[in-house]
Amino acid sequence: MKGIVLAGGSGTRLFPLTISVSKQLLPVYDKPMIFYPISVLMLAGIKEILIITTPHDKALFEKLLGDGSYLGCSFEYAVQEAPNGLAEAFIIGADFIGHDKVALVLGDNIFYGNGLSKMLQSNNDVVGGAIFAYPVRDPERFGVVAFDKNHKALSIEEKPKHPKSNYAVPGLYFYDNRVVEIARSVQASERGEKEITAVNKAYLDLGELQVGVMSRGMSWFDTGTVDSLDDATEFIRVIQHNQSMMIGCLEEIAYRMDWISYDDLKTSASRYGKGAYAAYINSL
Ligand code: DAU
Repeated sequence: MKGIVLAGGSGTRLFPLTISVSKQLLPVYDKPMIFYPISVLMLAGIKEILIITTPHDKALFEKLLGDGSYLGCSFEYAVQEAPNGLAEAFIIGADFIGHDKVALVLGDNIFYGNGLSKMLQSNNDVVGGAIFAYPVRDPERFGVVAFDKNHKALSIEEKPKHPKSNYAVPGLYFYDNRVVEIARSVQASERGEKEITAVNKAYLDLGELQVGVMSRGMSWFDTGTVDSLDDATEFIRVIQHNQSMMIGCLEEIAYRMDWISYDDLKTSASRYGKGAYAAYINSL
């Protein structure tokens, strides 16, 4: 399975923070935001990752993340000229995806919790589409999925004024190869975007959309506003301090997945100078 991190967009809700720099490069506590969604794809067992950015920010992401070989991974980069919608990722990434299945994670979404790796890995050979549902207080800000009494998904709507449930759809999606054709056929919405919700609806209409409800033990943050960014930072800080384990340390994940050797791990720490991130890698 291939993976895509969508890290474009204009980040206007975070202005002036994001006037000159991409939102997904901002810090979430001690790491750039994009480390967290990349770590999610890696935990799913995905090594081939395409990072889609704005034309302006591509060089910055390349400088930060390189070709991924130091993680036993392969990172490629592509540009989205304008924020035409999340589903455009599959059109931009069509050659990269080839005949494979693909997972998409939004560059501003953070996941953490018990059983996350297992949940991710259970979807890496998906037939149809697999998405998640997460209970929130403000579902009208998100894609919203509603269920019947047997927990079968009935409907999925993008930012409904009158949500049929309080289950938001987080920015993490697994699809089979048909997603490329489905994304091409999706028409732009009223706000002028190819919506990911339209892709999910297409799979739902085919009867091939699995929706997993994320349990209490799972935490999800969409860091699209100043407050939610601050919440995510505080969350990472508190958990890391309590457990003395890092969340989203890419080198640690690569090592634990057996993609790099112990020597590679120690060498990779040298990329990070004398900071706490390097010290953590060296402590493993
Ligand atoms: O966070 C989950 C939500 O993400 C889902 O529940 C919604 O169904 C989905 O539409 C999306 O809603 P948002 O309103 O949060 O999307 P936003 O426009 O903020 O974009 C999400 C991320 O994707 C953000 O980091 C910017 C990036 N992006 C967005 C668009 C529209 C792109 O890279 N390209 C784009 O064209």
